[in-house]
Amino acid sequence: MIRTILLLGAFVVLLSLDRAGEPWTAPPEADRMKDPMAGDPKAAVRGAKVFRSLCWTCHGVEGRGDGPNATVLKVKPADLGSGPVQQQTNGALYWKITHGRGEMASYEQVLSREDRWALAHYIRTLAHP
Ligand code: HEC
Repeated sequence: MIRTILLLGAFVVLLSLDRAGEPWTAPPEADRMKDPMAGDPKAAVRGAKVFRSLCWTCHGVEGRGDGPNATVLKVKPADLGSGPVQQQTNGALYWKITHGRGEMASYEQVLSREDRWALAHYIRTLAHP
């Protein structure tokens, strides 16, 4: 019994390690979602407030992946201003914030739908020139 439990435990750990660090792609339907805040200049301002209260600890104030808690993460969060993140649609960013993966929690129950879209808008403002 104990051996079975240990084996199962090891298996679960291996499974989660296996996924860590793999590219994270939102499903295609996320790209087709209608952005309810499209064209709203207040969206990024709203997103900034949420980011500076909940997200910066891991992602860093400028979203570079260098927040104070980033040092204890197994997977370093990507620089949100970088090409690979900026090339994603707002829908894909919204989907990732909603569902999370690994050490990045799901914010579906934590934040309103509007706040999650607003965060996608704020992430746009972090793009490197
Ligand atoms: C506990 C640390 C932590 C917090 C807090 C956190 N994240 Fe993350 N985030 C991560 C990690 C780690 C990843 C990389 C996950 C992976 O690739 O498996 C990530 C990935 C992301 C991505 C995907 C980037 C890409 O490569 O496509 C987005 C977008 C994101 N986070 C936004 C946010 C937002 C917005 C918040 C606040 C609501 C937030 N995160 C809070 C740790 C965190």
